[in-house]
Amino acid sequence: MLLPVVALVVSLPLSCGRATQIPFSDVPLEAYSDSLGWANLGVKPNANGTEHLIFDTVNSLLQHWPNTRYRNGHNVVPGIVPVGTLLYHGRENSSLSAIPDWTATDPEHSFPFCGSPPLMLVDGTVDGTAGCWQLTLVTTRPLKVLYLDGSSAANMQSGTLDVQDLLLWGKVSPERWLNERERINGLCEWGKDMGIDGYVRMEMDFEIMLCDFHNGVDLLSADFLSEWSRPLAPFWPASDQSALDSYTSEMHRPSSDKLRTSMVRRFETIRAGSWHNRFPGETRVTLDLTRLVSFYDTALVPSLTAHRVSTERWDHRLHNISSEDLAAVTARLHAVLAPGNDERGSGIDWQTLFRVVVDRYGDRLEMLEYLLNTTMPANAAERAQIIQMQLRVMITPYILHAVRPGPHSPPDDDGWAAPVWRGCATRHTAHIHASAEMTGLLTPSEHVLLRALEGTNREICRVITRMWAAGVRAGFDVLISPHEDSETETSLEEAAVSRVLDQWRADAHTLLSWLDWSVWVKCRPACTFEETCYLPTWPWFLKNIRDEDPEDDSEYSWKRPQPRCIRQFEPYSRF
Ligand SMILES: *[C@@H]1O[C@H](CO)[C@@H](O)[C@H](O)[C@H]1NC(C)=O
Ligand SMILES: *[C@@H]1O[C@H](CO)[C@@H](O)[C@H](O)[C@H]1NC(C)=O
Ligand SMILES: *[C@@H]1O[C@H](CO)[C@@H](O)[C@H](O)[C@H]1NC(C)=O
Ligand SMILES: *[C@@H]1O[C@H](CO)[C@@H](O)[C@H](O)[C@H]1NC(C)=O
Repeated sequence: MLLPVVALVVSLPLSCGRATQIPFSDVPLEAYSDSLGWANLGVKPNANGTEHLIFDTVNSLLQHWPNTRYRNGHNVVPGIVPVGTLLYHGRENSSLSAIPDWTATDPEHSFPFCGSPPLMLVDGTVDGTAGCWQLTLVTTRPLKVLYLDGSSAANMQSGTLDVQDLLLWGKVSPERWLNERERINGLCEWGKDMGIDGYVRMEMDFEIMLCDFHNGVDLLSADFLSEWSRPLAPFWPASDQSALDSYTSEMHRPSSDKLRTSMVRRFETIRAGSWHNRFPGETRVTLDLTRLVSFYDTALVPSLTAHRVSTERWDHRLHNISSEDLAAVTARLHAVLAPGNDERGSGIDWQTLFRVVVDRYGDRLEMLEYLLNTTMPANAAERAQIIQMQLRVMITPYILHAVRPGPHSPPDDDGWAAPVWRGCATRHTAHIHASAEMTGLLTPSEHVLLRALEGTNREICRVITRMWAAGVRAGFDVLISPHEDSETETSLEEAAVSRVLDQWRADAHTLLSWLDWSVWVKCRPACTFEETCYLPTWPWFLKNIRDEDPEDDSEYSWKRPQPRCIRQFEPYSRF
């Protein structure tokens, strides 16, 4: 959110199956192939598919870290804010807003907006020592909210506001990037008939645009705080060069108390945001995933596929949406938000189901990448056997006793491992397809979630199984020897070992890049106790890019945010 103009104040185990196991060679191959095709472990996912993107964004909902990294949101999710939740509102007097206004979930995020009536001094400057008003509200009933993911409260022209633009104005409108008053009024008007009380967005921390300060919330306290209240830095550079210039000169007087307070306040918004960095994120909002609407849903929004073909994920935008697709999204949103909507859904806890996949594979894949990149132990064959063991660990529940290469199967045929892939890829969700009653209960949004989960799981399982099978063929596996009756130790030729390692590296790299989970984005080496790991966060980088700071390694660092350690207290590092 932007500051109101007057208060331009901010500075800112394994399954032990007893079932009879049918030797693989007795099973016709057709039994393992269906419309999806399970026979060929070499088939990559469709390049235009978005299952992994939906999977990752759904796994990132309400988490600060991933939504700071990828700022352009694609999901709109209904939710509630439970009774008894405190909301904070910094303003310039003690009266309750008569119009829609912004609230913060953490007080650290509302201080920058608190103020007092401007006190103009004789020399035309403004006194900044006058204290400031902080209102604390409490919800008296569950508030019906709509959450917009990404850095949806960041006033940028590069895509953070695309979803809101489309809902309000029917087209992406970068020229309106600063029209926050028009935006909040418009959104509240848009959602009025559907009973929406507010909109949850994210910038340095989470906020709720509250449509009515007299409905569903009580004023707990109005406090005139001993806080410095006048602006040092504007949030945006382009619109107000003179403000920026005076801020810049202020910055160069390091002894300034105002500057000290300003820096602490800025940093503390980041700290408060960081409390919600990782799962479960901002828990004061409860989302209803059975009603999620995603612009990555290619069945609902096919028109955006072409744009994404040659575009990096950072730059995914909604410009190119067709009017039919936008109408379909709007219709779906109206349907899920309609007061009488009786979609109940299946009862599946999607968030947990998605989490199971990230829990099972997140750190193991990270370790796999590490092992493929180390040179210890120096003997490559020993290293390969260690890695093979880790591959086996990941898919142990699906390696049935009968699975092994047939005596006559050609060396480049890994079809014998296909049942492992299939078991791994379908175990969590096969029961849904098996029951017509269950599939009948799924909401359209749940179908999207199911496809995202299955598409992602399928690819993880395909690559791991393929890597494991290659290791079996090469003789790295402790339990399966590559040739049916051979009891003799296989001698591991150096060239063959290094060929497998190279292929493994390529496979793992492709998988990890495709998944692109933010759980892997960390400061390396880890930060010291005096520091915290930070991703460039709007609006602070707006200033940095104008500052010709030789240490600031280019625009790239904020366009494609990379983590780095910053100090947690004075003297602060640049952030
Ligand atoms: C409080 O401030 C708002 C602007 O932020 C103004 O519209 C309103 O009139 C003020 N209320 C009082 C009592 O001064
Ligand atoms: C991906 O989408 C583009 C644009 O719609 C299309 O030209 C291309 O054939 C698609 N690729 C695949 C693999 O479906
Ligand atoms: C999408 O929209 C942008 C901006 O309007 C335009 O430059 C671009 O050519 C369009 N098409 C694709 C495939 O991105
Ligand atoms: C791989 O090793 C190199 C050299 O030790 C290191 O710079 C790089 O960060 C490592 N990559 C990963 C993904 O661990």
